[in-house]
Amino acid sequence: MDAIALLKADHKTVEQLFRKFEKAGSNAHKLKRRLVDQMVTALSVHAAIEEQVFYPAVRARSEELSPEVLRSLEEHHVVKWVLAELDGMSPEAERFDAKVQVLMENVRAHVLQEENALFPALKKVFRPQELRTMGDVLEMSRKAAPTRPHPMAPDTPPGNLVAGAVSAVMDMGRDALRAARRKATKVRSVAARGPRQVVRDMTGAEAASP
Ligand SMILES: [Fe+2]
Repeated sequence: MDAIALLKADHKTVEQLFRKFEKAGSNAHKLKRRLVDQMVTALSVHAAIEEQVFYPAVRARSEELSPEVLRSLEEHHVVKWVLAELDGMSPEAERFDAKVQVLMENVRAHVLQEENALFPALKKVFRPQELRTMGDVLEMSRKAAPTRPHPMAPDTPPGNLVAGAVSAVMDMGRDALRAARRKATKVRSVAARGPRQVVRDMTGAEAASP
């Protein structure tokens, strides 16, 4: 897959998460938290691979496109701050929905700018084979990219390459810890309610008497 197709596919994935969020009811707190977790991961990885591979390659090839890239970096920076705040926020918090709204507006504007201005210009400065090679490198970088936003970390080379590798390892640990905590909370809630009540909750049926 070439770089432009790969980045557009990422944009589409994120847009699908946004639409699901918009359709979720105001009380669908668990669903909305899960969707925001997915947005945090998808957008963090996407921003990291663009910053580590895509933007440096574009700037190295075309000085004319440098202002576009710098604008994209600033847009990423704002998005990462909002993501960092959402990452630790309860979905029941008064400003949770409003913050997601602002996140979606910012990301959608950034996607429009990339897809309408930056990507078409790339086809004039890179050969198709070069864009395919860049797509392969982006795909490889995805595996080692941070999964959380790091708005204070450097976003241009060489600083972001080193910081990105360290953040990726730290994020892996945090993701594992978060998954373990959620599992423990679930187990505690089952233990507190008792298995019979859990079955009743799940099925809506009255459990048979002993
Ligand atoms: Fe981007």
